[in-house]
Amino acid sequence: MPVLECAVHWAVPADEAHMRDLLDDGERERYERFMRAEDKARFVTGRFLARTVLSEATGLAPRDIRFTTDCPHCGGAHGKPRLPGSGLDFSLSHSAERVVLVLSDGPEVGVDVEQESDRDVDRLGEMVLSAPERDVLMALPPDQRRRGFHAYWCRKEALLKATGHGLAAPMTAIHVSAPGEPAEVLSWDDDKAVSPVRLADLTPGPGYAASLAVLTARPLKITETPVA
Ligand SMILES: CC(C)(COP(=O)(O)OP(=O)(O)OC[C@H]1O[C@@H](n2cnc3c(N)ncnc32)[C@H](O)[C@@H]1OP(=O)(O)O)[C@@H](O)C(=O)NCCC(=O)NCCS
Repeated sequence: MPVLECAVHWAVPADEAHMRDLLDDGERERYERFMRAEDKARFVTGRFLARTVLSEATGLAPRDIRFTTDCPHCGGAHGKPRLPGSGLDFSLSHSAERVVLVLSDGPEVGVDVEQESDRDVDRLGEMVLSAPERDVLMALPPDQRRRGFHAYWCRKEALLKATGHGLAAPMTAIHVSAPGEPAEVLSWDDDKAVSPVRLADLTPGPGYAASLAVLTARPLKITETPVA
């Protein structure tokens, strides 16, 4: 089976005039609505990164790249960004000082990066992990639990972003391999969209977790640009 090439591009948030210039009207309105400078920077960097990478892949000028963002649940303009007619799929994620874009040559892709923060892992675990996964996490030495929790989180959110469900679907219904084991989706209760899927962990640098999911049976060949 031929490998599927997945290009992972990392960026650090910035908010510069040449990046803002490429936003379309809807994006500009959204940019203006963000209250915090760091949210503006993550948003504009993500869309700039997407335009830069997709411009290179398609030959379109960055300014001519117009994303659709139709929500599969309600039709509103807050779903997964897509570039119709390109034959490509991509996914964006941002957290703290990281912005990441993954490009796939066709099959649906999802990516998630999370800063490993001091969240209440016990409480969030109830919303994110299945009962056996919570047992695995609690069996880890206390100083490894935060990292383990974020590994689980990213693996699941990457899958939900590949399918386009987003957080509208419960994370506890997804069962993934344990932190430290090769990333793999084991099962997904009452859902079928999961097969076939490839999952992989990325290298976002210290203090972060990141994973990607691709709806394909083909083995992945992942290339990552280093975090700047
Ligand atoms: C997608 C989602 C999981 C992102 O969560 P997050 O951890 O806050 O943010 P991330 O940084 O990882 O990802 C955000 C990016 O995901 C992309 N995205 C948005 N919705 C998406 C979806 N449904 N599927 C995949 N990707 C999505 C966008 O590129 C977005 O960044 P941008 O708008 O700045 O370009 C979350 O926003 C979500 O669940 N949205 C959909 C909720 C929904 O469908 N509700 C029902 C409404 S009717």
